[in-house]
Amino acid sequence: MKVLVTYYSKSGNTAAMAKVLSGALEQRGAEVVQKEAGQTTPEDLLSADAVAVGSPDYFSYVAGQVKTLFDEALSEKSKLSGKPGGCFSSHGGGARIKEPFEHLVEAVGLKLVAPCVLSHDAPAGKTVDELHSLAAALCDAAG
Ligand SMILES: Cc1cc2nc3c(=O)[nH]c(=O)nc-3n(C[C@H](O)[C@H](O)[C@H](O)COP(=O)(O)O)c2cc1C
Repeated sequence: MKVLVTYYSKSGNTAAMAKVLSGALEQRGAEVVQKEAGQTTPEDLLSADAVAVGSPDYFSYVAGQVKTLFDEALSEKSKLSGKPGGCFSSHGGGARIKEPFEHLVEAVGLKLVAPCVLSHDAPAGKTVDELHSLAAALCDAAG
């Protein structure tokens, strides 16, 4: 099972979340493809069995690179329909990104398998557990 973990990170916190998530996916036997959002194409989403998208909280929304990926993926909505998806975000204390991020995942046809995982700065403690839960949900849904 191939899982795409695509994300944008400027100061490393979201990248640290991607690393924890990818490690948890690999522990469950998944083949993980990690890509920066700006280097990710809709074809990358189509070729994966499950997709996780990460972004810092920028003004209570996703970063521009991640928004562009969703903009481009919309044209493939019918083919992405029902594919297991998840999202994760690092924030500076606001964390209002959750609902808009989850909406974007579903708007391109992905099936959200777990709530968006939120981390105040770098992941630790409960957030690490939640990333492991997201990995489990993605693997279970992708079969
Ligand atoms: C342009 C910009 C906008 C931001 N807006 C928010 C915000 O609205 N709410 C919030 O909680 N944090 C906000 N932050 C803080 C980042 O989400 C936080 O530092 C995050 O951990 C950065 O992730 P990264 O290390 O992966 O780049 C903002 C940071 C930047 C640079």
